[in-house]
Amino acid sequence: MEGLDLVLVGPASRRLGRGLKAYGLEVVELEYRVFPDGESYLRVPVDVKGLNIAVLQSTYPPQDKHLIELFLALNVAKELGAEKIIAAVPYLAYARQDSMFKPGESVSLRTIIRLIEDCGASAFITFNIHKAERMEWFRIPSLNLSAVKAIADHLARLELIDPVILAPDKGAVYLAEEASSILKAEYSYLEKRRDRDTGSVETLYRELNVSGRDVVIIDDIISSGSTIANVAEIASKQGARRIFAACVHPLLAEGAMDRMRRAGVSKVLGTDCVEGAYDEVSVAPLLAEALRTMI
Ligand code: R5P
Repeated sequence: MEGLDLVLVGPASRRLGRGLKAYGLEVVELEYRVFPDGESYLRVPVDVKGLNIAVLQSTYPPQDKHLIELFLALNVAKELGAEKIIAAVPYLAYARQDSMFKPGESVSLRTIIRLIEDCGASAFITFNIHKAERMEWFRIPSLNLSAVKAIADHLARLELIDPVILAPDKGAVYLAEEASSILKAEYSYLEKRRDRDTGSVETLYRELNVSGRDVVIIDDIISSGSTIANVAEIASKQGARRIFAACVHPLLAEGAMDRMRRAGVSKVLGTDCVEGAYDEVSVAPLLAEALRTMI
């Protein structure tokens, strides 16, 4: 039978799952609890035999736990006889380690992709994977959606004054370009170098036309907040009015908010690809549309 029958929602994407329901999809939450020793228990509470389904589970921190829950959910759905299974993983963990940067390193993205496929996914969908070209590693049909439209529509409601969109590195230029075309705003980018051993980031100083203007720094991920903080410091020194940080995946490791605030960031906003305190933009409409058309 053609068409998506239902979406099984894992514990990491409850809010987004409710969002999908509002867009008319049939949504069922997986039963979930944690054993006293920390292991996860999952149960599919409905009959999925012969159905086309999606398993919705993001893999933000704690990544390893959320990944195991994704694998368990995909595999039990397969064992129960689901016909097609879309793995809908709004944030795909381990995607940044996508090369052997130093000899002998594990290319963790490749391992994660193999596990998703081996657990029974027949298709895959995510948002703004760190490097779009890595989608080619999937042997199943796969889709890399962009959440930028949802973010830009949200920014448009903030009444920004003469905004400038900044990409903190070359990899984020496509995000700044897309946002600026929706917001009809100027964009620019900086250059960043990361030390592969310490993880520290250096941003090269350059003159930006930001004096007296609102600045939006946009990136795929905010983790330690260092990338954003470096750019905010430069923009702040050059007289930016207000500085916003926007991203698709607000991982926000410990200390990230303080680091960004100290650098002059007044507001951080992200999407519900990563559920938590900074998920004020919902990707539910984009995901609902994609899920409907993927099977
Ligand atoms: C890497 O290039 C990504 O696009 C982000 O810029 C990076 O993951 C952000 O990390 P952090 O917040 O730790 O600087």
